[in-house]
Amino acid sequence: MTELCFSILAADFAHLADDVAKATEGGGTVVHFDVMDGVFVPNISIGPPVLKSLRKATSLPIDCHLMIANADAYIPAFADNGANWVSVQWEACRHLNRTLDLIQKHGMKAGVVINPATPVGFLDEVLDMVHHVLVMTVNPGFGGQAFIPGTLKKVEKLAALRKERGLDFRIQVDGGIDHETVQSVVKAGAELLVAGTSVFGRGTPVEDAKSLLELARTAR
Ligand code: DX5
Ligand code: ZN
Repeated sequence: MTELCFSILAADFAHLADDVAKATEGGGTVVHFDVMDGVFVPNISIGPPVLKSLRKATSLPIDCHLMIANADAYIPAFADNGANWVSVQWEACRHLNRTLDLIQKHGMKAGVVINPATPVGFLDEVLDMVHHVLVMTVNPGFGGQAFIPGTLKKVEKLAALRKERGLDFRIQVDGGIDHETVQSVVKAGAELLVAGTSVFGRGTPVEDAKSLLELARTAR
């Protein structure tokens, strides 16, 4: 099922609950929560204290995308503060199997993320243990970047692999997903659509979320 995972990175942090309510009214069904540590990526964003407040403001699943160097150390804090899904970057995990296992042991759905330069083939050994695979369609670290078209073939490859192996992980895309690019990622096989700027950037999140989802749902 096609779902909109609206990224609050592009929301107004002083009015977070209002922005989440508006994106939800527009049809968003997953809250995408970007965590950046200034080490794995050259930017710093938000973490467990903000998650704790946000948890009280929404009943939607909160999807935490960890762009951090030492994910294992923080997984308990994400579980304790209300995360439902946690995804970790392939490039940042020395012991990926252990990290995914740790996420699941804390009662959360585990996902793995690959950067644009990381091949889909590197995921072979973990595809049967993840709830979702996030194919980054920009280099992580900032909102508002341009979609990288070369990532489309990775989404296609992943969808083909899933079929071939009879697996059921979900395919997520993140970065530069807007009214221009959304149909191409859906056609390639993505179903969890992360979008920040195209939902919150124009100040009309209800309408923009609605029209983005409409385009996505008529793409196939
Ligand atoms: C980028 C983040 C994204 C970001 C997407 O590192 O992982 O989730 O918020 O932002 P837009 O939709 O503006 O490209
Ligand atoms: Zn993200």
